[in-house]
Amino acid sequence: MASPLARWIFLFLQISLLLGLLEAGARSVIGDGGDGVGIQMIPRRQPRDDGGFSTHAEKEGGPMGMDDPKTMKHHMHDHDSNTDDPSVHIFFNLEDLMVGKRMLLYFPHKTDPSRTPRLLPREEAESIPFTSTKLSSILSFFSFPDDSRQARAMANTLHQCELEPIKGELKFCATSMEEMLDRTHQIFATESRALATTYISMKKTAKALQNYTVLETPKQIEARRMIGCHTMPYPYAVYYCHIQLQSETRLFQVALGGAEVDRIDALAACHMDTSRWDRDHVSFKVLHIEPGSAPVCHFFPVDNLVWVPRQ
Ligand SMILES: *[C@@H]1O[C@H](CO)[C@@H](O)[C@H](O)[C@H]1NC(C)=O
Repeated sequence: MASPLARWIFLFLQISLLLGLLEAGARSVIGDGGDGVGIQMIPRRQPRDDGGFSTHAEKEGGPMGMDDPKTMKHHMHDHDSNTDDPSVHIFFNLEDLMVGKRMLLYFPHKTDPSRTPRLLPREEAESIPFTSTKLSSILSFFSFPDDSRQARAMANTLHQCELEPIKGELKFCATSMEEMLDRTHQIFATESRALATTYISMKKTAKALQNYTVLETPKQIEARRMIGCHTMPYPYAVYYCHIQLQSETRLFQVALGGAEVDRIDALAACHMDTSRWDRDHVSFKVLHIEPGSAPVCHFFPVDNLVWVPRQ
């Protein structure tokens, strides 16, 4: 058995490596999820206003898109009938996982890494309250008016984080990498490793919504369990993590190529049983299926993390 010190050093290296990789990724590629699309993958109905906290390739505004009228417009859609939103193009059918399959998919750029919410060190994150009951003091801490879009997005993030998990699911929100590592470690009762979608090469001019072709036979990642962590709209990085305890989820690595993208190594999950999901979940509209009638697969945006037990 490794000594506690050795384990901490290992954990530290793991965090450094992960952060280093994410940072290297941010420098060398232009891609980025970061627009709150992650919340679509939570098996509930999701309001889709991200309060402008994160980047859309087409957004121009400041760090939080605060004073950009275009962003405002973008976010004033009716959320429940929003299947025309390009960012819903992450869902697909299990049968689509084969070489040569073409799909219209949304993989947004990272135009400016400084615009994505910053991951705080644990001590800093824990010094800021993270609960609906303290919303007004959180808002004044970040200088957002109570009736702002940001305030609504933050209230919604806190609400999502505080909801009881649906049956057969375990969930938590993490406000730091350290917390995420601790929680995943606890749940798996073993070390975990993180997987993510990576952009191998993408032109600066590439459109977020493109036709992609599956380049190679998708590789299934054997994992007894997996915890999916999605970024949530907030002034700093908040991950909504969840794990299905009863229903089967399959994890795949899928090489995708497009007209303006040489290759994306995309991470995808297929939820084999969706019978307990909200009927209004956007995936059912996109795939034209009913809850429980077929598996729902989705790609993970580049800023999401999927944790699996270390073998
Ligand atoms: C994707 O392919 C379809 C069918 O070939 C085409 O009609 C559509 O315009 C393409 N979309 C984009 C965004 O390239």
